[in-house]
Amino acid sequence: MLRDTPTTIYLKDYQPPEYLIDQVELSFELGETETRVRSTLHIRENPASEQASGTLFLHGEQLELVSLLLDGKPLESDEYQLDDEGLTIYKIPAQCLLESEVRILPQNNTALEGLYKSGGMFCTQCEAEGFRKITWFLDRPDVMSRFTTTITADRQRYPVLLSNGNPVNHTELAEGRHQITWQDPFPKPAYLFALVAGDLRSIEDSHTTPSGREVALKIYVEPENIEKCDHAMASLKHAMRWDEQCYGREYDLDIYMIVAVNDFNMGAMENKGLNIFNSKYVLASPETATDRDFQGIESVIAHEYFHNWTGNRITCRDWFQLSLKEGLTVFRDQEFSADMGSRGVKRIEDVRLLRAHQFAEDASPMAHPVRPDSYMEINNFYTVTVYEKGAEVVRMQANLLGRDLYRKATDLYFERFDGQAVTTDDFVQCMADASGRDFSQFKRWYSQAGTPELNISSAYDAGQQTYTLTIEQHCPATPGQADKAPFLIPLAMGLLDSDGHEMPLTLADETDAVAGTRMLEVSERRQPFIFTDIKEQPVPALLRGFSAPVKVHYGYGDEELMFLMANEQDGFCRWDAAQTLAQRILLARVESPEAEVPAGFIAAFENALADTGSDKALLCEVLTLPSEGYLGDQMKEVDVEGIHRSRESLKKRLALALKARFLKVYRENSLEGPYVPDAASISRRSLKNLALSYLMQLEDADVEQLCIDQFNAGDNMTDVLSALSLMADRESSAGEQLLEQFYQQWQNDPLVMDKWFTLQALSKRPDTLDRVKALMRHPAFSIANPNKVRALIGAFCSANATGFHAADGSGYQFLGDRVLELDGLNPQVASRMVRIMARWQRYDSQRQQMMKAQLERILKTEGVSRDVFEIASKSLEQ
Ligand code: BES
Ligand code: ZN
Repeated sequence: MLRDTPTTIYLKDYQPPEYLIDQVELSFELGETETRVRSTLHIRENPASEQASGTLFLHGEQLELVSLLLDGKPLESDEYQLDDEGLTIYKIPAQCLLESEVRILPQNNTALEGLYKSGGMFCTQCEAEGFRKITWFLDRPDVMSRFTTTITADRQRYPVLLSNGNPVNHTELAEGRHQITWQDPFPKPAYLFALVAGDLRSIEDSHTTPSGREVALKIYVEPENIEKCDHAMASLKHAMRWDEQCYGREYDLDIYMIVAVNDFNMGAMENKGLNIFNSKYVLASPETATDRDFQGIESVIAHEYFHNWTGNRITCRDWFQLSLKEGLTVFRDQEFSADMGSRGVKRIEDVRLLRAHQFAEDASPMAHPVRPDSYMEINNFYTVTVYEKGAEVVRMQANLLGRDLYRKATDLYFERFDGQAVTTDDFVQCMADASGRDFSQFKRWYSQAGTPELNISSAYDAGQQTYTLTIEQHCPATPGQADKAPFLIPLAMGLLDSDGHEMPLTLADETDAVAGTRMLEVSERRQPFIFTDIKEQPVPALLRGFSAPVKVHYGYGDEELMFLMANEQDGFCRWDAAQTLAQRILLARVESPEAEVPAGFIAAFENALADTGSDKALLCEVLTLPSEGYLGDQMKEVDVEGIHRSRESLKKRLALALKARFLKVYRENSLEGPYVPDAASISRRSLKNLALSYLMQLEDADVEQLCIDQFNAGDNMTDVLSALSLMADRESSAGEQLLEQFYQQWQNDPLVMDKWFTLQALSKRPDTLDRVKALMRHPAFSIANPNKVRALIGAFCSANATGFHAADGSGYQFLGDRVLELDGLNPQVASRMVRIMARWQRYDSQRQQMMKAQLERILKTEGVSRDVFEIASKSLEQ
């Protein structure tokens, strides 16, 4: 069978719905062999729609029809039509009741979209378009309905039955079954519907809102995990308080529930009143979770909670507007984490992620605007561009307005659009209305793809005492967008004098000097900024706080970069100077491996290590060399082996030169006493483990013993895992033994097993691919579990560059095989995997040919999913 080419959906074709569904009653009969879903839809014509055609199309997939009644009468076979995508009813009255019953098979649902079983529990995932696998519906976000949900199930297997809103009724039934009804008073789009049934335990707490309402907080998990929920609960309470204080938003139902499930395509989902989480983002204990895991839980819990206002109360008109909720909510969770921990470090981590993944996406065939113009499969557009660049675009607006006006603008947004499904333009209009500023040029950030580049040059005129920065912007072509109009770019900057002090800044047409950071608004293709009364040649600090998602090119000398590392006040700029310098050295050593490491660079590292007074978390960032992936992005053609060799050898060179320093740092940052995941202890642990990773480059027996001792003594997963992953890089029996020891200890903890898989997949050993293949047959592995797939296959293909890009193409063949295997089970996961090959153009011609061959093979395969088809075909388009 030849598949049809999937159709492309365009933003320009948006039409409001012809019909609305004000209310829906759902009834689920959950069973082991089948589930019955009965639904009653209260339908009426949409007064806002121009042509009500009299024909109603409802989305529905993989539903088996049991019965269908319109206003109480069974529909005759010529009154409707069923196909793969839904149900068409001819001659629909202007107002009516549609009752249906369908049969679905959640136990066979491996795509994990719609209603499915995870372990012994039923759960749902409806965003973006999963509700249509549960019943027929107008499955689009601009149709908002009040939901009442009744769940009937075996009482023993499924004592806990949950849905959105408030429980209104519980009945014991015959044959050991029971029934609960839930009512959600808030109209919502179907993608926010959720249902959970299982044998779950919960912890409970409560939160009182500023208006005095008490909210019950519950976290549901499988019985064996009940001890691992406290951090998630504490994070939720912090998030609720933060949203009240920073955005004036309080929660609106009497109960807020979180459920952890083991099989989940994404990280977590913000279903109204009933968030469903990948267990990875709920469960934590010091013995089983790393510092990163603790931080990840805090931010994902907050993110989903924040969606209650930015996503649920105000939702998206259509899926092109996805960044309306995701970009804004990511910005909110970033700021929350910054307030909970170290602001400077959080910013660096976010920039690192953006540069490594979003800049790469923007430079690839998959580049698309924050508000895309078209898609084949919406699940493919939950991207770093929509999320991370979307967050940067909101951040720029917040910075352009300043704190008070930004708050005024978001207040206006919540007031104006509460209960509605809106667009990113609506959001920006609130920024404009609250500030009186014109945002029309700014809006290009939503419609134009690609990362703008700034070429900046400077000229100092000692006679006139002026300093001119000339800024040129351009944005590379992206698919479908050859030429771009100039962006409005907020560029935060300062000038440092020779003592490292901030110069007072006056632009040529101004009278008052402003000390410290200035926000230049770059709006033209070429634009000079002239500063007056500049007494000496300054060193410019550019893009402070990473004030815009752009690439800055300025011809700094090495000396100037070291000067910034030592003197600049902005944490981002200081870090960026160190990264730029390290990048220069690393790339030079790719070309000529024997090139000297400048003494100044080693001295700068030494000074940084010696500065005991400085922020340890920031120090860690400064001492972390740019990643292999990021370095590759800076080359014309990625030299996988060369980059790896260069980075390893520079680490070794630094370790040799600074061994005593690293050892001192290692010792001084060892912690006594019980594990606490607070900012101070986290930064000490990361500094200690960073020192260990440098020291391990020395292949010194004493250091190796230190590492083994750390593994054996560690009372926390952060230290244990750091030590173990360093040992797993070696082809030694000691490493093997520790891996086995770790497995014996943790084989019954799936989240810890994920870590065990990942560190083996990332091993620098030459036989890693064979080991990965063998691990796929390990009893702890399962191809049906997305966490396992990401931990083993995903980690190898996306983060083990030397292994995956092996010159013989074995890594590509492996990924091609896995994509096809996964596509039959779970297209969303398969599609995320195939993306790894979308950047084939960045490699040498032999690797290009081999990657293309895999993409072509995937495309030629019969029955390949729309998800995988879209990525593979767009990757090959040139
Ligand atoms: N709404 C999404 C979850 C989602 C995405 C469901 C795509 C279905 C398809 C949720 O709010 C989200 O963004 N989750 C992120 C984590 C977050 C902290 C960025 C995720 O799951 O990765
Ligand atoms: Zn989200």
